Amino acid sequence: MEKKFKRTLITTALPYANGPVHIGHLAGVYIPADIYARYLRLRGDDVVMIGGSDEHGVPITIKAKKEGVTPQDVVDRYHKIIKDSFEELGISMDIYSRTTSDIHSATASEFFRHLYDKGEFVEKTSMQLYDEKANQFLADRYVTGECPHCHNPKAYGDQCEACGTSLNATDLINPKSAITGNTPVLRETKHWYLPLDKWEPALRQWILEGHKEWKTNVYGQCKSWLDLGLQPRAVSRDLDWGVPVPVEGAEGKVLYVWFDAPIGYISNTKELLPDTWEKYWKDPESRIINFIGKDNIVFHCIVFPAMLMAYGDGYQLPDNVPANEFLNLEGDKISTSRNWAVWLHEYLRDLPGKQDVLRYVLTANAPETRDNDFTWAEFQQRNNSELVAILGNFVNRAVVLVKKYYDGVTPAAGTLEEVDTTTLAEIGTIKQALSEALDTFHFRDALKEAMNIARLGNRYIQETEPWKVAKTDAARLATILNTSLQIAANLAIAIEPFLPFTAEKMVKMLRLGSMTWDDLGRTDLIPAGTTLGEAELLFEKIEDETIKAQTDRLARIKEENKVSQWQPAPQAPDVDFDTFMKADLRVGTVVECEKVPKADKLLRFLIDDGGEKRTIVSGIAKYYKPEELVGKQVVFIANLPPRKLKGITSQGMILSAENADGSLTVISPSAPATPGAQVK
Ligand code: MF3
Ligand code: ZN
Repeated sequence: MEKKFKRTLITTALPYANGPVHIGHLAGVYIPADIYARYLRLRGDDVVMIGGSDEHGVPITIKAKKEGVTPQDVVDRYHKIIKDSFEELGISMDIYSRTTSDIHSATASEFFRHLYDKGEFVEKTSMQLYDEKANQFLADRYVTGECPHCHNPKAYGDQCEACGTSLNATDLINPKSAITGNTPVLRETKHWYLPLDKWEPALRQWILEGHKEWKTNVYGQCKSWLDLGLQPRAVSRDLDWGVPVPVEGAEGKVLYVWFDAPIGYISNTKELLPDTWEKYWKDPESRIINFIGKDNIVFHCIVFPAMLMAYGDGYQLPDNVPANEFLNLEGDKISTSRNWAVWLHEYLRDLPGKQDVLRYVLTANAPETRDNDFTWAEFQQRNNSELVAILGNFVNRAVVLVKKYYDGVTPAAGTLEEVDTTTLAEIGTIKQALSEALDTFHFRDALKEAMNIARLGNRYIQETEPWKVAKTDAARLATILNTSLQIAANLAIAIEPFLPFTAEKMVKMLRLGSMTWDDLGRTDLIPAGTTLGEAELLFEKIEDETIKAQTDRLARIKEENKVSQWQPAPQAPDVDFDTFMKADLRVGTVVECEKVPKADKLLRFLIDDGGEKRTIVSGIAKYYKPEELVGKQVVFIANLPPRKLKGITSQGMILSAENADGSLTVISPSAPATPGAQVK
């Protein structure tokens, strides 16, 4: 692609500092952004990559309240975890700052004030939900209730996660305060609104006419928002956590988190480049690329651009917003509150040194065009059969052969044969496809192309069979091994954006000098006479135990969630007294109890029912050992028709309670009762 731009500002969505980041964040935003930034740097572009924690908003205050700490404590904790783990994963941000910084409050405050002074806001008094017990207005996630669209009973005051509709708290049916559980009342309050309707024609023109090249998921979402018609949006909240509204008479009001957070991109650029930041935002020869997840599209393509247009003063709109879809985990939606996630900081602790494996798997399976699923089985499979078997294997073979035949000193190539020239020429073809995929944000395809260089290398060694040539033709051997090393050197450059740790190891092994994208395709990257570094294995096989530890953890979480989210079953429809009395419930004493052969759920009981004694088969073998029950008293239904189970006739049913985790507890009288006594 022609370089149309003098410089690029890459922004990465600011993650909320109310929890650590997980693989969904990485696959959706940070890994693609990092690949792109590293690629541009290799090309020698002027590029700046911006990130930071989003430290305002209601969920942070709710979390703080729950833990009995301050919101600042919460964001301090997670900001550090997030920042450190990004760094360890090699996400090469030029700055990772935070929205509680002074420079951010000043920037966001000035931004608001400038719009206010220009008359860009509409001031409106409206009725908002107020919790009289907590003495506060209930913004956004402080209220839950029934969604007016899909009737999900747990919708939030800003959004229904079941149907994706964005809501106003006052839209909710049967609203409840998340602080006290009280039903809120309506109270009058004043807020500032950004009239998005005013900017609709400009936004239509800019996106629908001007950016048809955007990803279809992004373009489509923008189009449906625009077609629905834009409404004024409140940009302030009644809350005590956030950037105060810089207007007289606005005590107790702060900027809405989605107003201040995107301004964080500006504050962070300022913090990084106090003297030159404006070039990245205001020079028409600069371009801005926003990496985000799909839930952020409306804010980056509609709301923030409207804010920038309202501000004026030369602010540029983003050139592209390559938003990704969502990544699921083992078939279920990732959820911070349900702990259904693979957390980056835990991954780095549990699988040390495997940064590039995660980067690889999350890129190879990135949710670029639709939601995708991460599974540990695929993680293991891609590591073992792609990273180990293709990439690692090729580089290792090339280096080890040079160690073996030339004592680790790169031999000079002689006359190239056809297999050599076609192989080397193919790198040029791959480079073209690779660059094009990167230029258009197709990172999965790009990674495939980069890996094709390793495939090419393996094929080359397979075809030229240097171990055979070694016995007959020393000059030919030198050419083959030189060529193999040149392929490996090209591979190091091509994978750098994706697998920077591996590229660095290869640089050391192959003694490469500085790498640039222009070098990719060259066949003289390792001069003859270069002494190679130590042969190091780039990847190792991941064993089943490692994977099992992770899947066991997820299974445990699933169990815990079942229990903590358990709710009693809704009450059954009424039954009349006479019908109930027809069931003949009795107490019996267990005389014998044993497992039913070939049925892992069933126990056979012999029950003293005060008469003949009866046999009952019951499906509780998972929860009791037979000997535990002998001598105990149970309650059974005496007048059910006999039923055959595994060849045994069961004359009744023993009653048990079904618990939150699905286990069963047998019901017994609280004190000894007469065998055969009726339960009434
Ligand atoms: N914190 C938001 C989220 O995680 C993203 C904010 S992006 C910014 O969904 F543009 F507002 F910074
Ligand atoms: Zn809904």
